[in-house]
Amino acid sequence: MSASSSITVDGKQVELPVKKGTIGPDVVDIGKLYAQTGAFTFDPGFTSTASCESKITYIDGDEGVLLYRGYPIEQLAEKGDFLETCYLMLFGELPTEAQKADFDYRVTRHTMVHDQMNRFFSGFRRDAHPMAVMVACVGALSAFYHDSTDISDEQQRMIASIRMIAKMPTLAAMAYKYSIGQPFVYPKNELDYTSNFLRMCFAVPCEEFQVNPVFSKALDRIFILHADHEQNASTSTVRLAGSSGANPFACIAAGIACLWGPAHGGANEAALKMLMEIGTPDRVDAYVAKAKDKNDPFRLMGFGHRVYKNYDPRARLMQATTHQVLKELGKQDDPLLEVAVKLEEIALKDGYFIEKKLYPNIDFYSGITLKAMGFPTDMFTVLFAVARTVGWIAQWAEMIEDPSQKIGRPRQLYIGPDRREYVPLEQRG
Ligand code: CMC
Repeated sequence: MSASSSITVDGKQVELPVKKGTIGPDVVDIGKLYAQTGAFTFDPGFTSTASCESKITYIDGDEGVLLYRGYPIEQLAEKGDFLETCYLMLFGELPTEAQKADFDYRVTRHTMVHDQMNRFFSGFRRDAHPMAVMVACVGALSAFYHDSTDISDEQQRMIASIRMIAKMPTLAAMAYKYSIGQPFVYPKNELDYTSNFLRMCFAVPCEEFQVNPVFSKALDRIFILHADHEQNASTSTVRLAGSSGANPFACIAAGIACLWGPAHGGANEAALKMLMEIGTPDRVDAYVAKAKDKNDPFRLMGFGHRVYKNYDPRARLMQATTHQVLKELGKQDDPLLEVAVKLEEIALKDGYFIEKKLYPNIDFYSGITLKAMGFPTDMFTVLFAVARTVGWIAQWAEMIEDPSQKIGRPRQLYIGPDRREYVPLEQRG
C-alpha cells in the first residue's frame, strides 16, 4: 500500500495518510475525515478499526501468532513465570535477575487488602456470582487507596499497578471463600504468586496445606496465556474508561464487568457447561449439527475468534496443560476430555467450521483444567480477570502516557426519528 490513500465523499476527494506499524496491517488514518468531508466512518464492532497505537501485544490471527512485547507466547509460557510476564508487560523488557527479585518482592508485599474490605463481603449474598463481587470490590479499592489515584503522578500510577496485580488474587480468593462459607485465608509471603493464590483458595485454618507444584505451574501458565490480548472488548473498555481520567481501580472494575460476558471471558464457563451438557462422545455429532443450524442460536462455545482465523496458539498450550493436570490427578480418561477431543476432531474436519475458519480458542480446554484443579465454574472468569489485570493496567498506563491521548468518543449513524414537536399527554391518541 502507498503511504497515502484517498477517498471520495460527495464528489470531494481527500488524501488520507497511511501509517505503518512494526509488523501487521497498515492503517488508514481517518482522523481528519470528518473535518474535511463532514462524513463519519461506520464500523460497528470495530472489525476494521485500530483504536490506538500500542507497543504491548501483537496478534497475527491468520498465522496464529501471539507476541507480548515481541516475545512469542510459547516461549514465555514454557520458560518464564507469570510475574516475569507482568514485568515485561509493564516495563517493556524482560527483567534482569535483580529486577525480577525486586519486582516479585514488591508485588508480594502488596497482596494483603485493607482489613475493612472484609466487611464488604458480608454485604453480599453467599450465592452472588463472584464476578459481581469482583466488580464491586475492585471498584471499591479506589475508596481505600487514595494515595494511588492521582493519574498524573507517575509514581502513583506505578503503585496502583503493583497494588492491582498483587491484590486481585487475594480478592478473587476471598470471593470464592465467601461463596462457600469458609474463612478468608491471608496471603503467605514465602510462596510464589500462583502458589499463594491456590493456598488462599483451598487452604483452611484447621490443617496444613501443601500446594501441588503441578497445579501451581499449570495455573501460572494459564495466567501467562491470559495476560493480554491487545484491544479486546475488556481492554478497550478499560482504555475508554481511563480516557476520561477515571482512576485505575475504577477502570479495571469496568474491564471486569465487560469480561464477564459469555462472548468474552465468560466463554470458558460456557464451554465447560456445553461439554457437560453433551456428556458423552456419541452425542457430539448432534451438537455439531445444532451449531451449524442457521435456525438454532446455539454456538460451539470455545470455538471461533474475532481475530484468530487459525488455531489459537494459546489453545495449543492450554491443551498440553490440561493433559498435565489430568495426568497428575490420574484422570487421563476424564469423560469431559473425551468429549472435548472428539468435538475438536469432528469440528476441525467439518466444512462449516473450515470455511468459516472456526478453530478451538483458549477457552475450549481451560474449563476442564480449572475444574480438575478444584475451581467451581463460576470462578473461571474470575481467574481470567486475575490474569488479565496486568494487560489492562499496562494498556491503561500506555494510554495515559501517550501525549496524543484524547477522551474516547465514538460517533454514530443516527437512525431514530427526525425532529418532531412534543405533544401534551392529554392530546396523545
Ligand atoms: N459456533 C458456530 N458458529 C459460529 C461460532 C461458533 N462458536 N462462532 C462463529 N460462528 C459463525 C457465525 O454464526 C457466523 O456465521 P455466518 O457468517 O453464517 O452468520 C460466522 O461464524 C462469523 O461469526 P461472528 O459472530 O460474525 O464472528 P465474531 O468475530 O463477531 O465472533 C466470537 C467471534 C468469539 C464472539 C464467536 O466466534 C463466538 O461466539 N464463539 C463462541 C464464544 C467463545 O468461545 N468466545 C471466546 C472467545 S476467546 C476468549 C476471549 O477473547 O475472550
